[in-house]
Amino acid sequence: PAPGWAIDADVVVVGSGVAGLTAALRCAASGRKTVVVTKARLDAGSTRWAQGGIAAALGDGDTPEQHLDDTLVAGAGLCDETAVRALVTEGPDAVRRLIGSGARFDTDAGTGEILLTREGGHHRRRIAHAGGDATGAEISRALVEAVREAGVETVENALVLDLMKDARGRTAGVTLHVMGEGQRDGVGAVRAPAVVLATGGMGQVFSATTNPAVSTGDGVALALRAGAEVSDLEFVQFHPTVLFLGPGAEGQQPLVSEAVRGEGAYLVDADGVRFMRGQHELAELAPRDIVAKGIMRRMRETGADHMYLDARHFGAEMWEHRFPTILAACRSHGIDPVTELIPVSPAAHYASGGVRTDLRGRTTVPGLYACGEVACTGVHGANRLASNSLLEGLVFAERIAADIAGTPDGAGTPHAAPGPVPDAAPGGPLLVPEARYEIQRIMTAGAGVLRSTASLAGAAADLERLHTTAAAELSVDGKTAEPCVESWEATNLLLVSRVLVAVAREREETRGCHWREDRPDRDDEHWRRHLVARLGPDAE
Ligand code: SIN
Repeated sequence: PAPGWAIDADVVVVGSGVAGLTAALRCAASGRKTVVVTKARLDAGSTRWAQGGIAAALGDGDTPEQHLDDTLVAGAGLCDETAVRALVTEGPDAVRRLIGSGARFDTDAGTGEILLTREGGHHRRRIAHAGGDATGAEISRALVEAVREAGVETVENALVLDLMKDARGRTAGVTLHVMGEGQRDGVGAVRAPAVVLATGGMGQVFSATTNPAVSTGDGVALALRAGAEVSDLEFVQFHPTVLFLGPGAEGQQPLVSEAVRGEGAYLVDADGVRFMRGQHELAELAPRDIVAKGIMRRMRETGADHMYLDARHFGAEMWEHRFPTILAACRSHGIDPVTELIPVSPAAHYASGGVRTDLRGRTTVPGLYACGEVACTGVHGANRLASNSLLEGLVFAERIAADIAGTPDGAGTPHAAPGPVPDAAPGGPLLVPEARYEIQRIMTAGAGVLRSTASLAGAAADLERLHTTAAAELSVDGKTAEPCVESWEATNLLLVSRVLVAVAREREETRGCHWREDRPDRDDEHWRRHLVARLGPDAE
């Protein structure tokens, strides 16, 4: 069927976290008609859940060069140094421009200087924070307000389906499924010669994650179906300290920021042993993959399903002032960190890989850009350094806006006619919503924090079975699933899971956050390279 409705624009930004809203603001400021479409509400994505902060060489004595060094070490040999250099040198000014857009960071009452904390892998205090541990919420508030003030058109409750292309194979816009937005209900299109994907991550691939329910890999799935290249998908970062709510806990889990360790909390086992000592010179503040592995090892050695963070020495006042969000989350689950140990275990947190881009944010499909967690710009390598993600969103969104401003496509360029609008699943059988939980179980068991040849092979076989038969099997009445947000999400989760498992099987080594039990060593001779994937024309 023809789209029920269509909007014409110069740029459509898909997603409304720090990357999407920054791209939208800057594109609009350069005179491009910009439309933001987002799956739920403008502030529903991962950005608003970010706690620790945003890393930038803002402090006395710190330099972009030192930030670069820490980023490269965490990235375990796979960072693109040119991309990291862009991140760390442009970062401080990008943060200042964010402040110019209205974000209020915590400052010293006397000097007015931005307060900086430490997190894993950083040799210096360089993490700016807001509201104590509510940095993402403040950034989201400021950017949503700025986008509204700038008069940028936004469409909420709009799940992106597929990229539209013109006859030359160039980007021509996106198709969307919108719910509850009056005249724009149902399947429609935003036609634009530039599409900026800023859809965030894919943490919902796993049963337990710090990501909100909306993080279902929609952007990576769209890009794959559009023929774009993705890179480094095997490098899923597991945050070491997520509040442990029991062995079967599922869905979004409360984060206990690295900044808690940055301010002096330490990890202990049930006997009070500080097991990270002796494992790394930075102990609890080692890069995230090392701390996650340290926790997993200790859990196995002691037969426990979680470890503990001890921050009782902070005292009530510091907890209330510096970490109010975490304090409230712990207390809402019956744990008082002022007097008790905090039970923690690792959970899926961040996709270090994504849609492959160059330094201008261009993907391999003309007119399609990507920034933020959905992108693989090369800055994270095999393991993202803590608090570099908000910064990457800012810096590369600005780079994209500059690239779009410098291209002739845009205002005044005739728009391509809308392409066909899918009336069922994008690219393949549409899964019933319940398939989401089956995918999560398969991925958690076979491709989680600890992987092996056998576990990955099992996951691949189970996902293939789901791909070929689940739509029919899981349907109660034998019909294929009805098109709805949940069925499209399940379909996207399956596609990104299949590609993730395929590249994780290929990488026969342990590097960064890809941990192969049966290949425990880093193998620079064979594997200091990126695994790039792309769907072939007959892949579905
Ligand atoms: C945290 O606050 O620990 C999260 C920081 C990050 O993921 O970069």
